[in-house]
Amino acid sequence: MTVRPIVRFGDPRLRTRGERVTRFDRHLGTVIDDMIETMRDAPGAGLAAQQIGLALQLCVIEVDGRTYELANPRIVHLSDETEDAWEGCLSLPGFRALRSRAARAVVEGQDRTGRKIRISGRSELARAIQHEYDHLQGELYVDGLPAGAEIITEEELDARIEERQRRAEASGSERRPELGQA
Ligand code: NI
Repeated sequence: MTVRPIVRFGDPRLRTRGERVTRFDRHLGTVIDDMIETMRDAPGAGLAAQQIGLALQLCVIEVDGRTYELANPRIVHLSDETEDAWEGCLSLPGFRALRSRAARAVVEGQDRTGRKIRISGRSELARAIQHEYDHLQGELYVDGLPAGAEIITEEELDARIEERQRRAEASGSERRPELGQA
């Protein structure tokens, strides 16, 4: 397995919609293994093919110690209930923005052998599913922010959380997720 360089914000490869995966062969397995290795090295909670420069409908996710590989994903359910969290992306390292996402998501796709899979997630897993799905369409999490939304550095976020804790205010919706960057 090889850690591959992660494509950064501004590179047009992040803006390219992925092609469907049609060959479930050994090469695909190698790409998926490299993506998992690259995600763990970063470290991150997910990685899309675009982030290693490949225009494919392919991503990996790792949340709560479970690893998912997903080709040709299709989101089949998003809850009306939403959650706000400070989301980040490995292609925009060091930054976060408060992003609203569906609290629960169900996605269907295929694993490396072409077998059909279905992943049902809530909170961090639901967020990771939506974040990676967007990458595969050539979208980034900052695209979906409302007008006037802040994008802040991780240092600034940590400072705000400390300040908030010092004041012992209820943290409410502004919690920092375990999701990290994806
Ligand atoms: Ni990302």
